[in-house]
Amino acid sequence: MSLPVFSIDHKVAIVTGALGLIGREHCNALASAGAHVIVTDLNHEAAEAFAASLQRASGRSALGVGADITDPASVQTLLERSIDVFGQVDVLVNNAAINDMVEDPVSALEASRFENYPLELWRKCLDVNVTGMFLCSQIVGTHMARRKSGSIINIASTYGIVAPDQSLYRRPDGKQMFYKSAVYPTAKGAVISFTRFLAAYWGDAGVRVNALSPGGVRNGQDEDFVANYAKRTPLGRMSEPNDYHGAIVFLASDASRYMTGTNLVVDGGWTAW
Ligand SMILES: NC(=O)c1ccc[n+]([C@@H]2O[C@H](COP(=O)([O-])OP(=O)(O)OC[C@H]3O[C@@H](n4cnc5c(N)ncnc54)[C@H](O)[C@@H]3O)[C@@H](O)[C@H]2O)c1
Repeated sequence: MSLPVFSIDHKVAIVTGALGLIGREHCNALASAGAHVIVTDLNHEAAEAFAASLQRASGRSALGVGADITDPASVQTLLERSIDVFGQVDVLVNNAAINDMVEDPVSALEASRFENYPLELWRKCLDVNVTGMFLCSQIVGTHMARRKSGSIINIASTYGIVAPDQSLYRRPDGKQMFYKSAVYPTAKGAVISFTRFLAAYWGDAGVRVNALSPGGVRNGQDEDFVANYAKRTPLGRMSEPNDYHGAIVFLASDASRYMTGTNLVVDGGWTAW
């Protein structure tokens, strides 16, 4: 039995960072729930290829567009291409981000220490994670506000709510492998604040703006890390990339029509204690 309020049939959704670990799953969720998805990421050919596979799997037309979310002209072209093909945009998932992963070999212990953290990396992360979200929201959201309808979903993180627990990145022998940087939580805190700002600003324009905060996603991290993470999580495991399907469709659909300015936390309970 289907509940019509959850329907996103024939809605048009842009997903940024769509070729990444979770971005692909946001696309899969939206397309399998009936939406036309604009797959966008830095690499145009790869975005086209993934859009084609999405279309084959879902039976809904999809479009792949290469765009750099930090470049206003690039984002403007993304919007124009989307409107040319589908006539409108109903949903924007601001998902693209730089996430300094624990398994990243360049993020060695010393470089990742707060005392040494490079200004260049700080600026780059803020540029993509905060300014990119601002630009996409400004350009695509203005189109939504003119139409008096739209849902913007900003992907935040548990680390926008609570501080990273640096002991997660410590081996059983006490050796610290890595420190999670200050910039990622700073950027994700900004995502949540910006969400509230824009929700209040566009409430009367019919554009809803919500954040979604995922917990850590399993992606080949070393077993010590995975075990530490699971122990620290009430539901006892890291998330799978597809654990956010329901939340994305909920926020995109009328099922969340009375929600704006909120942060939907889907973290296995990580922030509960
Ligand atoms: N993976 C996790 O454990 C986790 C946990 C909580 C929140 N998140 C958030 O979920 C979102 C997706 O995370 P992920 O793990 O899938 O990341 P990912 O690194 O796998 O994918 C990010 C994508 O963003 C793209 N991107 C980077 N800079 C860009 C730019 N300037 N313009 C356009 N695209 C750009 C990359 O090419 C990449 O495909 C991010 O916002 C991340 O912060 C992830």
